[in-house]
Amino acid sequence: MKYIFFLLTILFLLSGCFKKDATNSWNELAYFKEKNEKRYESYQETHPNLEKDLVVARVNLGLDSPFYTNTKQADHLDSVTVLVNKYRYLPKNYTPKHLEVIRKEFNVDQKVLMKEAKEAFEELCEEALKGDLHIRAISTYRSFSYQENLYQKYVDQDGVIMADTYSARPGYSEHQTGLTVDVDNVKTSYTNFESTKEFEWMQQHSFEFGFILRYPKGKEEITGYDYESWHYRYVGKETAKDVTKRNLTYDEYYMMFFDQKK
Ligand code: DAL
Ligand code: ZN
Repeated sequence: MKYIFFLLTILFLLSGCFKKDATNSWNELAYFKEKNEKRYESYQETHPNLEKDLVVARVNLGLDSPFYTNTKQADHLDSVTVLVNKYRYLPKNYTPKHLEVIRKEFNVDQKVLMKEAKEAFEELCEEALKGDLHIRAISTYRSFSYQENLYQKYVDQDGVIMADTYSARPGYSEHQTGLTVDVDNVKTSYTNFESTKEFEWMQQHSFEFGFILRYPKGKEEITGYDYESWHYRYVGKETAKDVTKRNLTYDEYYMMFFDQKK
């Protein structure tokens, strides 16, 4: 009996290996796009060690062309899963529905988030506070014109190449979705958020409230931005949990699970 159980375990583990091998061809992936096949091949040549699913997701994302080329309007505009990045923009006049002011104790200057994100953010802050950790919103929804001025200020200060590493061009900032929040811990500058206990807590718990770290360290070539320990994006609890479990950027995750099959 023991041996049978042992044998079955081995067979189960082996079947897992074969399943992995099965993704050896692009077209078995749900998000394979025939029109992109040549591009997958070229991308794989320049990234020989990259797994097939990531090759397909990254090419579909547009990463085989420079940032801000072949751009298109974001899909699912009013969904919490909307993807906004250097290839997908929001219309100039896009304003999220149901923006609400975050509670004063977790906020500075009447900042607003989309209702669902605002409620989740307040829950997150309350939970953190139980452990004497103070998280608050310092930048949330930003309109197109606000981002336009902000980006221009950075360009004047540092030049376009530098500004592009840390600031989104107008229309390309996910702050315009009303689903994004920059945080600090009140005591330390947001740029040092990484060194705080609050950051550690966010690493462990933000997904439980539907938030993900949007620009992780080491993923700059995918997200297009320098690491930002303070910038969190609300995507809903289920999605946040899955993105975190799979250790993917949201850009890749979206292409694998939410992108339209066209
Ligand atoms: N700092 C982020 C990338 C933004 O400007 O939206
Ligand atoms: Zn931000």
